Amino acid sequence: MSATSSTSTSVDGLAVHVRGLTRRFGDFTAVDGLDLDVREGEIFGFLGANGAGKTTAIRMLCGLLQPSSGSAMVAGVEVGRHARELKRRIGYMSQRFSLYDDLTVDENVEFFGGIYGLEGAPLRERSEELLPLLGLADRRRTQAGALPLGYKQRLALGCSLLHRPRVLFLDEPTGGVDPVARRRFWDLIYAQAAAGTTVFVTTHYMDEAEYCGRVSIMVQGKLVALDTPGGLKALTGGRDMQDVFLRLVEA
Ligand SMILES: Nc1ncnc2c1ncn2[C@@H]1O[C@H](COP(=O)(O)OP(=O)(O)O)[C@@H](O)[C@H]1O
Ligand SMILES: [Mg+2]
Repeated sequence: MSATSSTSTSVDGLAVHVRGLTRRFGDFTAVDGLDLDVREGEIFGFLGANGAGKTTAIRMLCGLLQPSSGSAMVAGVEVGRHARELKRRIGYMSQRFSLYDDLTVDENVEFFGGIYGLEGAPLRERSEELLPLLGLADRRRTQAGALPLGYKQRLALGCSLLHRPRVLFLDEPTGGVDPVARRRFWDLIYAQAAAGTTVFVTTHYMDEAEYCGRVSIMVQGKLVALDTPGGLKALTGGRDMQDVFLRLVEA
């Protein structure tokens, strides 16, 4: 298989392969020459302060925003060239997850399943597998808008997993919930990764950075560091990831 084939299953075992990815808005550069490789099955933490460019980068990797320059392969698909194939291979849980508040849990599942061409028995089987895992089995007739935030987050995660994506993009999936709900959410992320899904996740919570195999830190559109949490502690002399983050961002 050729590494340059635009829909090969992988580039040497890489789920995400990014070179020089840049996005400008007018004369402001939100993402500036991003170089990044994420291995298949990895849990990769994409960290950065508010406004660093994380969401802009993720939207480009998901084929939702046109890069100004640079290239990206995601799940073996060249971004910007094969939008439909890319959509089939990735899951995306956006920062303001796009559930329908006035639809029930089941109706949201049906709606998002439909987007990925999943309906009838296969959709029923998949939701019967996923909803108990997400702790939503007894909430199926509850309107999404009436769910506590932690449940909503798990439903949004479930909706992004219906079509069994190879690469899952999570943009601040645990924002605003308590540590117990966050821990529970991370158990679900681990289960997905253990099943072979690559997870690309942004977070503000530095304790969560410790749960990632490797993390990158972005400052004003540029990556300033990329390593394992242990490697970054050794590099910066930081005690924990909070400390590492502050040292790198203030440097
Ligand atoms: N559509 C847009 N037009 C103009 N500026 C934008 C647009 N989208 C994002 N930005 C700017 O790009 C920067 C990075 O934003 P974003 O990617 O949302 O950061 P993060 O997700 O790391 O908080 C911010 O300064 C933001 O205001
Ligand atoms: Mg963001």
